[in-house]
Amino acid sequence: MSPQQFQQAVLNWFDLHGRTDLPWQSSINPYRVWVSEIMLQQTQVSTVIPYFERFMYTFPSVSALASASEDEVLHHWTGLGYYARARNLHKTAKLICQELNGEFPDSVEQLIELPGIGRSTAGAICSIAFKKPAAILDGNVKRVLARFAAIEGWPGQTAVHKRLWAEAETYSPLHRVADYTQAMMDLGATLCTRSSPNCAACPISANCIAFSQGQQTDYPGKKPKKKLPVKTALFLMIQNQQGELLLEKNPPAGLWGGLWVFPQCESTTEIEKTCSELGIAFSQYQLMPERRHTFSHFHLDYQPLIIKADNSDLRVAETDNQVWYNPQKPLSLGMPAPIKALLTQR
Ligand code: ADE
Repeated sequence: MSPQQFQQAVLNWFDLHGRTDLPWQSSINPYRVWVSEIMLQQTQVSTVIPYFERFMYTFPSVSALASASEDEVLHHWTGLGYYARARNLHKTAKLICQELNGEFPDSVEQLIELPGIGRSTAGAICSIAFKKPAAILDGNVKRVLARFAAIEGWPGQTAVHKRLWAEAETYSPLHRVADYTQAMMDLGATLCTRSSPNCAACPISANCIAFSQGQQTDYPGKKPKKKLPVKTALFLMIQNQQGELLLEKNPPAGLWGGLWVFPQCESTTEIEKTCSELGIAFSQYQLMPERRHTFSHFHLDYQPLIIKADNSDLRVAETDNQVWYNPQKPLSLGMPAPIKALLTQR
């Protein structure tokens, strides 16, 4: 199958079956395309849609985003995970406004220089927003191409990754580039799915090597399984006499960077010390059941505990990094999903 035949088959299918009503497909501009592509990294379309709509409502332009505080941006990301994406988005917005005159670069080479934009995201922005030829290779497209060309091995390995990029470049067209990018993503998301691909409906299955071998689900190769390590933590839900809860802001980099969390300690023997450093006096605490939150590289088993502070003259003053949070009057703070859940569904 020549690249032209491949493109034609994919585009003909797209004209009949491609998705055309996703929110980022209307009023297309580089800003909307960029934000949607960042949100869609590692995250499903159905999860992204409401976040994208709220984000565009609050930050309708790159300058609106650049002039927002990081807290506001993280607040809009609460629950989406991979918060470095939000911090990079904000950083890039400021950079575009302060150093690039508010103009998005329109080449892959320049786009990948920006924080948070890798080669595939740059290709998607270039082709969808600027209609310039550029290949993409997101998770969906990796699956399509690994099957089509029967490329063995896990795409995280450099050699496999390189072969997949070579395929992506080979089939990438010079015309209808935005439609082709969207078509390949749609093909991967709607037909060439991980566990039950609908090969009967696929426009390129007649030339798909994995299909001809009946081995579709063997591609792409799986990541070698390592058991994730388990870390544990106690989340101290310290309540003052008004029923407000103490939240602290994490340092900017690292896990849950810049997000608001409960004070933490490692074991029950440290509760007193942690509280006394905060100026909190208490006579007892109430342990809640342990819960698990899984990050990409470890499980966090955390146990929330409720501490009612006895002292009425708490030393904790509200600072840039500490607040007393009233669940009845929520503030616009960025929080990890487990913290937000504890504040709202206790
Ligand atoms: N995943 C990444 N980019 C996407 C897009 N533009 N549409 C649907 N899914 C996507």
